[in-house]
Amino acid sequence: MSCCHNYYLADEGKESVFTVDISSISFGHGVLKEAGEHARELGMSRVAIFTDQRLAALPYVAQVRDSLRAAQIDPVIYDEVQVEPTDRSFLAAARFAAEGKFDGYISVGGSSVIDTCKAANLYATWPADFLDYVNAPIGKGLPVPGPLKPHIACPTTCGTGSECTGIAIFDLLAMQVKTGIAAKRLKPTRALIDPATTYTLPKNVVAASGFDVLSHALESYTARPYTQRAAPGLAALRPMSQGANPWSDIGCEAALQRLGRYLERAVNDADDKEARDQMMYAATLAGIAFGNSGVHVPHGMAYSVAGLVRDFRPEGYPQDEPMVPHGMSVIVNAPAVFRFTASACPERHLHGAACLGAEIKGACSDDAGEIVAGQLIRMMKATGIPNGVAGVGYLEADVAALTRGAWAQQRLLANAPRAVAETDLGDLYRAAMRYW
Ligand SMILES: [Fe+2]
Repeated sequence: MSCCHNYYLADEGKESVFTVDISSISFGHGVLKEAGEHARELGMSRVAIFTDQRLAALPYVAQVRDSLRAAQIDPVIYDEVQVEPTDRSFLAAARFAAEGKFDGYISVGGSSVIDTCKAANLYATWPADFLDYVNAPIGKGLPVPGPLKPHIACPTTCGTGSECTGIAIFDLLAMQVKTGIAAKRLKPTRALIDPATTYTLPKNVVAASGFDVLSHALESYTARPYTQRAAPGLAALRPMSQGANPWSDIGCEAALQRLGRYLERAVNDADDKEARDQMMYAATLAGIAFGNSGVHVPHGMAYSVAGLVRDFRPEGYPQDEPMVPHGMSVIVNAPAVFRFTASACPERHLHGAACLGAEIKGACSDDAGEIVAGQLIRMMKATGIPNGVAGVGYLEADVAALTRGAWAQQRLLANAPRAVAETDLGDLYRAAMRYW
C-alpha cells in the first residue's frame, strides 16, 4: 500500500510551499580524518573541539585533533559537556566559547555534545538572556539574529540526528522540564559521520538510540501535512517543524525499511557491523527528514518522561545519576500515541508499519493503529526496551505531572496529524503505562 495520495491537497489560505534545507554530510569509514580539510575550507583557524570525558579517552577525538593539526590548526578541547545537558551546563560551555574567541567549532559525541556545541556557538556569537532563544512558551522563542560560526558535527551514536537539525535540547533546572532551542541557524554547517564509532556502544544504548531514530521517521511521516498549516506570510516565518512533506517522506520510508531490517540485529549482536553501519545510515536519513518536517506527540510526551525521572538507571549508561535515555523516553509513549493518531491518516500508519516489516495484507483503515502499535511492541520486546512508562519508574499518580510537562511542548503537539487536548495527554500516559 502506498501513502495517501491526497495527503498534500492544498487548502485556501493554507501553506502551499515547503522548504528543504539540505544538510552537508560526509558519511563513511575513516571520515573523521577529513576534519582538518573541511575546517580549513570553512575558514576556521581558532577551533574548539567539544566532547565529554568518556569520549575524550576514545580514539575519535584524537583522530579529529590530529587531522586539524595536519591542517595547521591547533584546537582547544572542551571535555566538560554534561550527558543530558542543563541550562547550567549550556551556560558554562557558552562562557568557555566566548572567552576563547573561536572562529569555528567541532563537536565529537552524541546529542548532548552536539547540542551543547550549538548552544555555546549561539550564545558566544549572539549574547542574550538565556531564555530569549528558548522555545515559547517556556522561553521567548526569539529568532537568532544572524549566522553562527561554522560548526562541524561528528556524531558517535546512531540516534538523534542532531548533526542534521537546528535543535538543541536541555533540562531547564528551575522548572524541572526538558525543553529546547529550535532555529535553522543552529544546524551544523557539516556533519562527518563514521559508522564505526558505534561499534563499541553497549546493547542498551544501540536500542535506545535506534528507537529514537525509528520514532523520528514514523512521527515525521505521520506529522500534520505542511498544507494544513496557516500560510506564513513571509518565507522567513515558515517554521522548521513545517509538517510532513513529499521530500521528508523519502528519507522516512528509507529509514523505516532499514530499521525493520537491522535494528534487532544491531542491538542483539555487537559483532554485526553491517547492521550497525545501516543503523547509522538510517539515523542520518531520518535526521535529514525530520529536520525538515518535525516530530510530534511521542517526542512531546518524552520531555517529561525524561525530565521527571526518579530512580531509573538503565544498564550501559553512567550510573551516577538516574536517567531515562532520550530514545527510551520517546518509544515508551509511541504505541499509545500511534493508536491515537492512526485515524487521522490510517494509510500512512499502515505503510509505516509495513516498512518496519509488519504484515498489512487485507488490513483496513480501522486496523492501522493496532498494527503499528503491535509492530512497535514486538520490536521493543525483542530489544529489551522497558515495558511502557511504568517500566521506567512512573505510576498512575504521576500522570498529572507528566501531562503538565508535555502540554508545554506546543511546538510538537501542533505538528500532530490530529488535535491533541490536555486531557488527551493524560489518557495517552495512562494508555502508555504498560503494553504487555
Ligand atoms: Fe529524538
